[in-house]
Order: sequence, then C-alpha cells, then structure tokens
Amino acid sequence: MTQTAHGVEFTRQPSENPKSAEERAAILANPGFGNYFTDHTAVVDYSVDADGNGGWHDARIEPYGPIVLDPSAAVFHYGQEIFEGLKAYRHADGSVWTFRPEANAARLNKSARRLALPELPAEYFLAAIRELVAADKDWVPSGDGEALYLRPFMIATEAFLGVRAAREVSFRVIASPAGNYFGGELKPVSIWISRHYARAGRGGTGDAKCGGNYAASLIAQQEAEANGCKQVLFLDQANDNAVEELGGMNVFFVMKDGSLATPALTGTILEGVTRMSVIQVAKDMGREVAERKITLDEWRDGVASGEITEVFACGTAAVITPIGVLKDDTEFIGSEDAKAGEVTMAIRERLLGIQTGAEPDTHGWLTRLA
Ligand code: COI
Repeated sequence: MTQTAHGVEFTRQPSENPKSAEERAAILANPGFGNYFTDHTAVVDYSVDADGNGGWHDARIEPYGPIVLDPSAAVFHYGQEIFEGLKAYRHADGSVWTFRPEANAARLNKSARRLALPELPAEYFLAAIRELVAADKDWVPSGDGEALYLRPFMIATEAFLGVRAAREVSFRVIASPAGNYFGGELKPVSIWISRHYARAGRGGTGDAKCGGNYAASLIAQQEAEANGCKQVLFLDQANDNAVEELGGMNVFFVMKDGSLATPALTGTILEGVTRMSVIQVAKDMGREVAERKITLDEWRDGVASGEITEVFACGTAAVITPIGVLKDDTEFIGSEDAKAGEVTMAIRERLLGIQTGAEPDTHGWLTRLA
C-alpha cells in the first residue's frame, strides 16, 4: 500500500451491477434508517506475520456484497468487534462533507485497545471514507435531515477457537442513505426505564463502541418496544440510579436557567461525537453545560417542579431527538403531548446547520469528501 497526499492508496474494483439511477432515486425518496446500502464497500485487512509483526494491507474498494469467513472466525464466537458511525452531508453546491471524522478515528482506536484489536492509523480511516464516498457520491441524499450514514467496523476474522486476540482482522466501511432514525417526522419519543438489565459495569466495555454492548441492550430494547417506547434508558442502579445513556444515544437536560446538563463520562458511558459537539455548540450559544451525575430522582422531581424544562437524546444516527416521556411500571415522567422544546430545536438547527453548510464551521469540524 502506498502513501498519497490523502494517506493511503486503495485499489478500486467497481461494482458490475450498481443500482440504476431510477432505483437509487426510489430509495433516496424514502431511505429510513439502515435499510439500503450503496454499491461499494471499503476494506483494509490486517495480519500478524510469523515474526509477530502486524500490519494493515490490501486497502481496496470493492462491490458491496456478502463477506466470506471461516465459520470458526473469532468474531462469530467471542464477539471481537467494534464499530463507528458518522455521516456524509450534501451541501447546497453539491459538494459532500463529513463531520469530525478524526474524532471517530480516535474513538475507533480507543475501542480497539479495549477489545484487543489492532489500532488503525487515522489516515487509513479517513482514506477509506473518502474513497467509499467518492465511489458512491450519488448516494448522498440532500433532503432535510438526511445524510449518507457511514458505518466503519472492525472484525476478528482469524479462524481459531482459542480465546485470545485474533491475528487476522478486517476493517470495513459500508454506507447507507439515512433519514430520521425513528422514522417519519421528528417528534418527541417515549423512553422505557430498564430496571432488570444494565448496559455496562465498572471495568467493562461501556465506553467502547463494540457490538457486545448493543447485543446486551436488545432485550431491554424489546421490553421498551413492547411498552410503546422507542428507546430504553439504562441507569447505574448501584449509584443512586444515575442516568447513563439510552440504547444507542446520550441524554441531555435543559434546565430552567437555560443551562444544560448531561451525565459525566464515568467509564460506563460512550463518549458520543454528537454529545461532545452539543456541549461545544451550546457553549457557543452562551449556555453553560454541566457534565455531572443526574439521577432518576432528579429527572422526576426536576420535570415536576419545572427545574428541568426539556430533555433530549443525541447521537450520530438520532441527531437530536426530543424526549417526551420517561416511564416504566412505576414511573411516568413528562407528557404524551410534549412538543419539541425550543432550546432542543435551536441546538439541533445549529448543529445540523454546521453539518450541512448552512451555518459557519467555526471549529473546523468539516472535512470535504467529494
Ligand atoms: C450512531 O448514532 O451512530 C449509533 O451508533 C447509534 C446506533 C445506530 C447504533
């Protein structure tokens, strides 16, 4: 693999049967979230040689399609897997940009260290995204709140059943045109409190973005959906029911005095790129932001007293989504008729504005891809 001005050189094998312009247009008219995938995928493989030296190699763009792996590949048995999520946005002049990719590259490596996977140099991460979006740039939607969702992931591919870090690994990126994560129009969502299941514990993988965390959340997510809720809230039950995060998003509170609060990073919470961007955008808008412990009691009592005026969820997929209700068998906090809060929507508009080029990028968060 040779180095170029943009980092790493990828070989390109174009798809022989890409979607036609008509098929693509039909998909882009109503993409939903995670339903459709573009024509290509980016791949970089890793292996350790006989002398124990590991290296990344065979960077390539190839047609999107099934991955052939040995049934004993470690990812199938021990879940040695990590992933990321970021988006490519189409600006009014047709150019395509992504948002803070270096933060995703850094977090991927933090997750890699925790899961005993090899770190991927940031230039490989950026080149993979750049190459994939260059190949599939016609798939980047331009509708309000729409983007091309990029899903980088790293899997242990070595065929071996012993429990140790795999010596063969694959890093890949797939892309999926995306609208509202929750489907339909943006409106406040209801959240279910998980009482029986934790997402993460001290010393666990809570602050790594690994598939296992999401697998562990699914039973709670099913419970949420069975109770008419869109997402589940995880609490730290050993710590006064401190609010942690939702199944796949961080949580923010807007206080009566106009400040914001969000759970502090304790090691069991994922440091969302949207979370860190909301903190900065809110500060830019003159608001104070506290990263601190927030308990279920504070949520209930604060909403009842008016101390908490708005609550919202944030993540790359969800962007910023208002929370209307938090409930379980014993709690009902908020209101089914809640409207999206003004502060929530102003922060959402500012953040989306930066991402889509409608607002100035004063922090240098955007990287042009195509
Ligand atoms: C994201 O917001 O990118 C996420 O990873 C959340 C979820 C879709 C897994």
